[in-house]
Amino acid sequence: MSARGCALLGVMPLLLSAASGFRLCPSTCLCYESSDLVDCRSRGLDRVPSSVPHSSWLLDLSANKLTEVRTRSFIGLWSLKILMMSNNSIHVVQPQSLSSLQFLERLDLSFNRLRWLPQDFSRSLSSLQELRLDHNLLQHIDSTALQDSDNLRKLDLSYNRIQAIDVKAFNSLSRLSLLNLEGNRLNVLRDGVLSRQQSLEVLLLSHNNISAIESEALSPLRSLTVLGLQGNKLTHIRFKTFLKLQTTRTHLQMSLNPWTCDCELQRVFGKIQHVRHLHTEDYKDIICHSPAQQAGGSLASLDSQLCLMETASVLVITITVMLAVIGALVKAERNRKNKQLQSDAESQDKKNEGY
Ligand SMILES: *[C@@H]1O[C@H](CO)[C@@H](O)[C@H](O)[C@H]1NC(C)=O
Ligand SMILES: *[C@@H]1O[C@H](CO)[C@@H](O)[C@H](O)[C@H]1NC(C)=O
Repeated sequence: MSARGCALLGVMPLLLSAASGFRLCPSTCLCYESSDLVDCRSRGLDRVPSSVPHSSWLLDLSANKLTEVRTRSFIGLWSLKILMMSNNSIHVVQPQSLSSLQFLERLDLSFNRLRWLPQDFSRSLSSLQELRLDHNLLQHIDSTALQDSDNLRKLDLSYNRIQAIDVKAFNSLSRLSLLNLEGNRLNVLRDGVLSRQQSLEVLLLSHNNISAIESEALSPLRSLTVLGLQGNKLTHIRFKTFLKLQTTRTHLQMSLNPWTCDCELQRVFGKIQHVRHLHTEDYKDIICHSPAQQAGGSLASLDSQLCLMETASVLVITITVMLAVIGALVKAERNRKNKQLQSDAESQDKKNEGY
């Protein structure tokens, strides 16, 4: 054997171990496609395994016992594109714990116990396109937590306890096409919160506590096709607020609200039905909550009755006022005539006296 051959042989084990080290699979997990896909679902793990290969692009840690996402947990996993951690008991995402994941495209943290997000949550997540945070305990979305994820297309914040969203919270998310806020505790849809969401196609706000939509809240939305507002606390809406949606076709979902069925509401929905780009999908299911005599009936079944009643009462009032005026005029005229007669009689009397 030549000296060169010997040298090669000597290096071989080193090369081999380096190559296989690259492909190691954490002992508790299953790996596929030369460890590109690492499946650690339901293994009772309470921490992220340390030996996940650097080349992996999918890591599934769902249904384990993680309680924290710790700083440096994912250090070195620079190929990771999909990270799933749903159905754990995560209550803290420590600062910078995700900061090595520059190429991450999908992050699933649903079904955990998060109450808040760290300010730098999205610091390095600039490739992120889909973020699931549904079924947590979040109460507030502040202005910085999502500010670096400007590629985000889908954001799921449903079934949390969100009461307030900072007006700047979604400012960087100009590519967002789906925003799910169902099942939270929002009271008002505020002006400015959606000011950069020109690409938003689906906005789900069902099952909140929304009783007011501020007049400019919907005006920035140019691509919206679905607006879900079922199961809120709306009693009235303003036509102008919805008219500001400059879209080609938006489907509105408005049932399960405590509507006050009066002529005004009937007019608003009547106008919405006549605007080509707006369509109330569940108009037949808009049920009146008040006034008492309409409660339980659908707005559609009342037809134009409400406005007829209103017109009738306006008519009655007008006629009453007119009659009163006419009565007063007649009375005044009669008084004038009486006075005239009286003074005529008096002057006649004076004449007679003069004789
Ligand atoms: C997570 O839990 C929910 C509710 O318990 C269940 O519907 C879902 O299938 C679970 N997902 C995973 C990935 O285990
Ligand atoms: C829901 O909104 C009403 C006002 O419409 C308010 O009084 C109530 O406190 C709100 N509930 C929650 C849980 O925020």
